[in-house]
Parts: sequence; structure tokens; C-alpha cells
Amino acid sequence: LGPRPLAGRSVLVTSGPTHEPIDPVRYIANRSSGAQGTAIAAALAALGARVRFVTGPAEVAPPAGVEVIRVQTAREMLEAARAALPADAAVMAAAVADWRVANASGSKMKKDGSGRAPALDFAENPDILREISAPGPARPGLVIGFAAETDEVVAHATAKRLRKGCDWILANDVSPATGIMGGTENAVTLITADGAETWPRLAKDEVARRLAQRIAEAIAAG
Ligand code: C5P
Repeated sequence: LGPRPLAGRSVLVTSGPTHEPIDPVRYIANRSSGAQGTAIAAALAALGARVRFVTGPAEVAPPAGVEVIRVQTAREMLEAARAALPADAAVMAAAVADWRVANASGSKMKKDGSGRAPALDFAENPDILREISAPGPARPGLVIGFAAETDEVVAHATAKRLRKGCDWILANDVSPATGIMGGTENAVTLITADGAETWPRLAKDEVARRLAQRIAEAIAAG
């Protein structure tokens, strides 16, 4: 493959956390920084891909050379991801909130002096990876999901690949002993239909470059 093997190809990347409103000024979120998704988008762009980068409110700035689509909620992310198709590949690196607040208030919630706290009801969010992986004319030829596991990494990620309907899963070992959480390095195993391949412990940027290279090879192989 040449230096820009993804020239003329388009790739969707989701990244960052989602924010799920409680009222107009409050939300529920998670600690995703968006670092790995951002690195992957940058690595794909460096190989020549047209990258549509659908990102929640991340700590890390989006990379140069990609089309940035900013969203807040999981439902907005699903809509933006669908609108970014067709694509040759999709890399779903976002840490999507599993639940949203079903009884979010349209105006700022206030203490009413009774001493009673409000109750939040939750509703399940759409599974964006599963929706994008579903068979149909708009399905990208290669869909890649992520899995953060603390034990039985290969078994759990292999089951997740089948459950989500995606082609590959990049599984992270986030057990406390690895020190991966919040760190600059990542220990990953790539799960494909052919089996599991554990990579050496690498900087997140290097994980991104290797994944982008593998995507380019898979697309070139048809
Ligand atoms: O099992 P879990 O939901 O943690 O799987 C993580 C993978 O699924 C990630 O690739 C994540 O981006 C994707 N996901 C998603 N939409 C959700 C939940 C997870 O796309 N609502």
C-alpha cells in the first residue's frame, strides 16, 4: 500500500462522551476524554481518508483535517452518525451513555423548600454501534466497535462482536493492575472473525496508527 492508501475513502468515527440533560443547565456524563477516538480520526486522515468525526463534548480538541460534527446526546449522535453514511468504514469509539433522563425538565429545577429531592427516571439510549452494524444498504463495509474489559478480555469481547453485529472489536484491558485508565498507553486485543490478536502495550497514538493501517489493508483487500 502507498503512503495515502485511504485516499478517496470515507470513514465515520464517533468519539467522546455524551451529555444527557437533566434540565437546561444540568446533565449526566462520563469520564471519557475522547483521546483514543481523536487519535484514530487523525491517523485515518493521515492515510488520506475523508473522516467524518462525530464527537460528544470531549476534553481533547478534534484533530485537524477532519469534518467535525458536534453533538451532545446519544440520540443526536445516532442521528449524526446515520447522516454521515455512506462510508467505507465506521469506527465507533464514543463512550455513549447507556441511559438518558426520561423525565428531564424543560426549565431549571428548583428546590421547593420541602427538603425532598427530585427523582430521576431513566430510559435506555439507542445502541449506536448496533444500529450502524445492522444489515442494510447503508451499512459500512467494515464496522469496528470497542470494548473495555477487566477480565476474560477475549471471551467477553468475542461475545460482544457477535451481539453488536460489528466486524471487529478493539478490546481494552482496563483492569486496575494495567494502569491503562487515564494513562497515555493502551493494551489492546483486536477481535475479528478470524480470532484474537493481542498487540504489545503501545501509546494511544500508536494504537491508532496500527488500527488505521489495518483498516486500509482490509479495505484494499475488499
Ligand atoms: O457493551 P458496550 O455498550 O460497552 O460496547 C461498547 C461499544 O459500543 C463501543 O464501541 C461504543 O462506542 C458502542 N456503543 C454505542 N452506543 C451505545 C453504547 C455503546 O455505539 N449506546
